[in-house]
Amino acid sequence: MQPYLIAPSILSADFARLGEEVSNVLAAGADVVHFDVMDNHYVPNLTIGPMVCQALRNYGITAPIDVHLMVEPVDALVPQFAKAGASIITFHPEASKHIDRTLQLIKEHGCQAGLVFNPATPLTYLDYVLDKVDVILLMSVNPGFGGQKFIPATLDKLAAARAMIKQSGLPIRLEIDGGVTVDNIADIAAAGADMFVAGSAIFNSPDYAHTITAMRANLAK
Ligand code: DX5
Ligand code: ZN
Repeated sequence: MQPYLIAPSILSADFARLGEEVSNVLAAGADVVHFDVMDNHYVPNLTIGPMVCQALRNYGITAPIDVHLMVEPVDALVPQFAKAGASIITFHPEASKHIDRTLQLIKEHGCQAGLVFNPATPLTYLDYVLDKVDVILLMSVNPGFGGQKFIPATLDKLAAARAMIKQSGLPIRLEIDGGVTVDNIADIAAAGADMFVAGSAIFNSPDYAHTITAMRANLAK
């Protein structure tokens, strides 16, 4: 596995120029495109769906697309996103009545599957499905908006999730989402994360390559 993956959240991109923005951020050194789907039901905001994912593929984006579903219910969108070119699909366990079934559904559709944990959601949801997840995504802000501050208690939670992964011996990615910056990324990595979502820190910066390079430099320290 590549040691660290940087996944810019396109929530903070200029939606009027989305294809160009995604191309630019990948050319600037990003590994994965983080695609935030909000339904004005599970979270109090409304964003983008499978048609936009398909549009990015049609535009020529070949990098992995990491679809973060903040929707309830979940299942109906899984085949649609798989068809639209999603590589990874993650969902919040509280939003699915049948977590094991939703994980299977994602895999049957050829995508990697993951569970997302809000700041107050316990990791115990993993107890009986750890062998069925490819990604564990910890939210370090409450979901719904970009540009919020990193919640420090997430560092201990990352360490706990990292210990679970280590004990299992499984090649599970540990992804962090919310308030990641050039300044805190090294501490977040030290706590156990190996995949970093960053929206505002990258897209609100004047030079994406400069910001991503600075993140990687801090990860290498
Ligand atoms: C929040 C989203 C995040 C968000 C991160 O609900 O899941 O992906 O865009 O944005 P920043 O990096 O600005 O906190
Ligand atoms: Zn997200």
